[in-house]
Amino acid sequence: MAKKRKFADARQETFETRKKIGFPSSPKKWKDAKANYSEHELVINNHPVMEDWESDYMQVLASIACSQGGKVLEIGFGMGISSGYIQSHDIVEHVIIEANSDVFDKLIEFAKSAPEKVTPIFGFWQNVTKDLPDETFDGILFDTYPLQESEVHKNHFDFFVEAYRLLKNGGILTYYSDEINDFSPEHRLALERSGFKNINMQICDVNPPADCLYWKSKTIVAPIVRK
Ligand SMILES: C[S@@+](CC[C@H](N)C(=O)[O-])C[C@H]1O[C@@H](n2cnc3c(N)ncnc32)[C@H](O)[C@@H]1O
Repeated sequence: MAKKRKFADARQETFETRKKIGFPSSPKKWKDAKANYSEHELVINNHPVMEDWESDYMQVLASIACSQGGKVLEIGFGMGISSGYIQSHDIVEHVIIEANSDVFDKLIEFAKSAPEKVTPIFGFWQNVTKDLPDETFDGILFDTYPLQESEVHKNHFDFFVEAYRLLKNGGILTYYSDEINDFSPEHRLALERSGFKNINMQICDVNPPADCLYWKSKTIVAPIVRK
């Protein structure tokens, strides 16, 4: 019981932090915002979008997304950490969607020296994935960021239907889960309602710094969701 309360408290804290920072008033504000990169993190509109303590977790997500080889879709380039790991696998093509202009510039640079073919697409996935045909991908790695209050802790949920459409049969979806050691009932239901029945996971150890504003636990779930 005490453990459950602790989880709820941490959720509330990370929710309140983001609310306090404030969300962009329109998608355009996110698209045009300066991406502030430093050695260990990426900050956009004062939001801690990505931090490099997630590297080992990103490596696991990349292995899951690339476990079938073939064509891999990634959504959210950020610091390019997961993209780098994806490129270490034997794949045919790596399609990457990114919505922020500055981050997209980094993605273009990344694509120039990547060993496997990279196809960068600029825009919000909500606007651009509809141009990608059904059953195109063998694996998908989804890692965006909540851009409005209603998306905090569940910005991946709306993508599940689209992931199901885009994956080949047998293809695998993985993503930044926002879960400590299991899927919440709401989370599992969102996957099931989108068509996914084969839902597994790996629990990863992580070590976020004490002042991390968005993750407070020592483990995080790496989803392994097969179509
Ligand atoms: C958490 S970072 C991705 C981190 C990345 N996995 C890495 O290893 O560095 C999230 C990225 O998603 C982008 N993003 C946020 N919302 C998006 C959306 N709806 N469509 C596409 N990209 C989005 C952000 O601009 C940011 O670059």
